[in-house]
Amino acid sequence: MKIFLDTANLQSIKQYNDMGLLDGITTNPSLLAKEGGDPQKAMEEITKIIKGDVSLEVVATDYAGMMDEGHKLKKYGENVVIKVPMTADGLRACKSFTAEGIPVNVTLVFSPNQAILAAKAGAKYVSPFIGRLDDVGQDGMALIAEIKQIFSNYNFKTQILVASVRHPMHVVEAAKIGADVVTLPPDVLGKMLKHPLTDNGLKAFLADWDKLQQGQK
Ligand code: G3P
Repeated sequence: MKIFLDTANLQSIKQYNDMGLLDGITTNPSLLAKEGGDPQKAMEEITKIIKGDVSLEVVATDYAGMMDEGHKLKKYGENVVIKVPMTADGLRACKSFTAEGIPVNVTLVFSPNQAILAAKAGAKYVSPFIGRLDDVGQDGMALIAEIKQIFSNYNFKTQILVASVRHPMHVVEAAKIGADVVTLPPDVLGKMLKHPLTDNGLKAFLADWDKLQQGQK
């Protein structure tokens, strides 16, 4: 399973990239707004730091606007994936970008039917938002399992990119189902590497080593 970071925060991107954990990045207008500053500069910089796929989202909602914006975003780097919303115009743009050899991530997916259509339009990634489904009392992870089954039935090449991840158990469940990618907010990735028994164990090792050193004096 690939791990993407779901952020436009350069410090977090560098931090986890230096640990070799990142296969890519996803951004969206809300994440860029959270960081402030010049979003164009931030997007360009992210594509330079990360070798893997970097999803950059269009904000136009009409086909022509999406195509125009997508072509501009693609200039930031070879690794840019154009993120389009799951709308009729978004799917049309997905088909056109794909025909040009530009990979697409279809975002804001909330049903198996939407995932099927994104795959048919040629998307490289489909992004179901599981946390937002959980928020409204639906089972987000059940959607991932359904999409996985459908894509396997027909050997669809579109990758399932699990988005709107809220906690580490989402990651474990997504991995058990066999999702292709999880995109994680930095705090979720931070929580994944922690365990209290690791901290306690390390403290005990160091205390015992210290005692040994004291005894040798
Ligand atoms: O990747 C999608 C993500 O940024 C949305 O997450 O937490 O706003 O539902 P959230």
